[in-house]
Amino acid sequence: MPYRLTVLGTGYLGATHAACMAELGFEVLGLDVDESKIERLRRGELPIHEPGLEEVLRRNLDSGRLRFTTSYEEVAKFGDVHFVCVGTPQKKGERAADVSYLDAVVESLAPHLDRECLVVGKSTVPVGTAERLAEKLVRLAPAGTQAELAWNPEFLREGFAVQDTLKPDRIVLGVASERAEKILRDVYAPLGEVPIVVTDFPTAELVKSAANAFLATKISFINAMAEVCEAAGGDVTQLSAALSYDDRIGGRYLNPGLGFGGGCLPKDIRAFTARADELGAGHALAFLREVDEINLRRRARMVGLAAEALGGSFDGRRVAVLGAAFKPDSDDIRDSPALYVAVKIAEQGGLVTLYDPAALANARAAHPHLGYAGSALEAASGAEAVLLLTEWREFVALDPEDLGAVVAARVIVDGRNALDAETWRGAGWDYRALGRP
Ligand code: UDX
Repeated sequence: MPYRLTVLGTGYLGATHAACMAELGFEVLGLDVDESKIERLRRGELPIHEPGLEEVLRRNLDSGRLRFTTSYEEVAKFGDVHFVCVGTPQKKGERAADVSYLDAVVESLAPHLDRECLVVGKSTVPVGTAERLAEKLVRLAPAGTQAELAWNPEFLREGFAVQDTLKPDRIVLGVASERAEKILRDVYAPLGEVPIVVTDFPTAELVKSAANAFLATKISFINAMAEVCEAAGGDVTQLSAALSYDDRIGGRYLNPGLGFGGGCLPKDIRAFTARADELGAGHALAFLREVDEINLRRRARMVGLAAEALGGSFDGRRVAVLGAAFKPDSDDIRDSPALYVAVKIAEQGGLVTLYDPAALANARAAHPHLGYAGSALEAASGAEAVLLLTEWREFVALDPEDLGAVVAARVIVDGRNALDAETWRGAGWDYRALGRP
């Protein structure tokens, strides 16, 4: 392989990118400022739950192609291409994204650079960040160093991180020179036939914001239809199915329920509107605030539906909550709709017992006052209502009779429209769901 790669930041995106680039045959050096994280990665332990990733990590640690460090000096000496994969979280109390970790990476790396290299941003950023960082890189790199910036947004989904990285739908390259384009085309050549869009910095940054805005809008669209269905007595799951036969609409991201959460969609649409405001284009994205509000209203509606199922009050009532992660196959609880609902019910006097196949430890650490169980059946034991809030396969596969044998009352509220209503009603359950009669 002609290039040696580094990955700066070993969170979700960075750990995946580093392991997958090594899997493609590159020598890769991953860096993080968190010593304990690096120690764990060196032992082949992932800090996150992501199907298939640990195997890729271990295989490439064993082959020697993948190594980890905390030293920027080592990274600067090693790498031809440096991928920047640090987070851009929402600023406290604001809609805007905090890009200070990106600045910190450029400030830490640039002074050590002593050879020709390409620094490639992968994080989701407010448009204009790449241009600013490109100037900073040139200003801080020692005179005579040929260091250049490029922007290459990442579209991976949690739960599908390895698959999305090794078989991406498309690759977007924001570049300022033919040299940068050639290097990145070479790096991604082992992926085979993938559409590549070569563009400028602002367009590359915007593609990512626009993609997440579109997905969030699609989810909120169907959840807005759920609100209307609730008012009119319609069934949003049938409505969604009927819409999905139209190729122009498509069925993906049209599952009505508790709405979107996680570390990306909510904060990215907020950051996008904040940046548009700064650019004087806020009016163009005004609808995204509504998208955000529709999404948050679903959480409130879920709490209301659960209260109705219990006759109007949670006070002293035993509620089983199935799911804490923001989506299945993940242990990520950032902005999780499921945990929001669980916490609200506990605040209103409900005795919540929660179970999640992967996110239990994270949920317990963030909300120690909630009750926890080691299985779905244990959580449901003695419950007066069961709430399905994250559609893990093992919850969808639950047998209504098995669950019915342990609960105090056969009441279930399906926050993800994941269960078959007829089956559950047939087994004597009071089945309720968002957007359905
Ligand atoms: C998202 C984007 O999909 C990805 O391209 C980007 O890189 C990061 O943000 P991710 O946050 O991992 O990925 O999750 P995703 O699978 O997109 O789901 C986001 C949320 O939407 C979840 O809470 C999910 O439960 C919810 N969702 C998704 C729905 O409520 N309905 C749907 O139809 C689809």
